Amino acid sequence: MDVFRVEGNGPLEGEIRIGGSKNAALPILAASLLTKETVTLKNIPNLSDIRFMVEILEYLGAEVHNPELGTWEITAHRISHIAPYELVRKMRASVCLLGPLIARLKKAEVSIPGGCVIGPRPIDLHLKGIRKLNCEVEISNGYVTVDASKSRGGHVFLGGRSGSTVTGTANILMASVLTPGITRIESAACEPEIVDLCNLLVKMGAQIENIGSPELIVTGVSELKGCEHTVIPDRIEAGTFITAAAITKGHVKIQGIPHSFLGAFLDKLQEAALPMEISDDSITVLPYKGSLNPVDIITLPYPGFPTDLQAQMCALMSITEGLSIITERIYPNRFMHVPELQRMGADIAIEGPSAIIKGPCDFSGAPVMASDLRASAALILAGFASKGVTWVQRIYHLDRGYESFEQKLSSLGAKIERLSDTDLPNDLLEK
Ligand code: EPZ
Repeated sequence: MDVFRVEGNGPLEGEIRIGGSKNAALPILAASLLTKETVTLKNIPNLSDIRFMVEILEYLGAEVHNPELGTWEITAHRISHIAPYELVRKMRASVCLLGPLIARLKKAEVSIPGGCVIGPRPIDLHLKGIRKLNCEVEISNGYVTVDASKSRGGHVFLGGRSGSTVTGTANILMASVLTPGITRIESAACEPEIVDLCNLLVKMGAQIENIGSPELIVTGVSELKGCEHTVIPDRIEAGTFITAAAITKGHVKIQGIPHSFLGAFLDKLQEAALPMEISDDSITVLPYKGSLNPVDIITLPYPGFPTDLQAQMCALMSITEGLSIITERIYPNRFMHVPELQRMGADIAIEGPSAIIKGPCDFSGAPVMASDLRASAALILAGFASKGVTWVQRIYHLDRGYESFEQKLSSLGAKIERLSDTDLPNDLLEK
């Protein structure tokens, strides 16, 4: 397995262009099953999660071509309705296959995705929505089986205890676009990734009103056609690189990201007094001396502060003078990065859903373990601000969601090297 060797090397400097959004690309890849015609997708990031989704599409019978890096051509002439456990278990987002299979084949059999370290990943809201489309839903032997032979438009409220559901909204959208009648999705997710999915579906011929709002109206059509679509940039990759620049007091221009995708995040950084130049499609982090201001953050559904940037902010606030409180309202257990940051010198106490961070700490390099996609990024960011060497193990978590992470950061002057775990110092080698 690969590891990263990270060494503090002063401020990051330079320019970086943001890649395509993983969390837009995954449901959009699933949406290609909604038509027999070819769907050409561009700006798809080169990630293990993308390869998992493509593997499942091919298993279901779709013809897939990858004519150049970032471009995928999918033609789902004939597809089967069963998505097996051995494929689905690799990635939760494969739950997004339910919607297209229900819409296209009027039946589906999809293994229930497992949980993960950030918390239980229920799909009760997905199933509630599917039932509201007059579908029969049965759960047995770890599979969701759906009979949509009598499906028709309906009214579904998708709000749960943590707000709406992103992939749940994607599933009901994709299920309803070919379902006869009108479907009203109330408390729909408003994330940019859902807007991008809606824009793709409309290009395919779907009828969707109030795109971007929490109340979507879908009028079912009889069939959808192929199209070409370029996926939006990844706002979480952008936020991760902005935080990397801030934690090293660097000077970095992050290009190709609409600032509107990061409203709450940028607002918090301005409250922390991080100097930035913000233009329509780029954000430049400017150097600063001394410390930022501590901030209080609560993660919320979009347009609130994104949970996927919570771990990165824990690292940044650890070197910030004062007391910061970061409360996780989406995944209350999403603090696996905290014990690892503490090993590097952070002073963080967990009180229920909140991390209470006393700064500044002097980060020192240490051997740490990645646990989930965004926690891995937070540990590497802390490593950039540390004295000495940080060894980050299990970086396959990071490879799920960040394309060419070490290359992009090395181009900004970061000292980060991908090695094999056999290169670990003897005292770290798994006994
Ligand atoms: C999406 O996950 C993202 N993944 C996650 O990004 C992101 O953290 C999350 O949205 C929140 O923004 C993809 O888009 C592939 P949810 P999703 O359904 O759709 C509860 C990353 O790092 N809930 O919006 O699975 C759930 O427990 C990943 O890129 C129910 O109760 O998240 C959570 O508390 C991690 N019942 C909240 O809603 C349900 O049926 C939000 O979950 C569904 C969800």
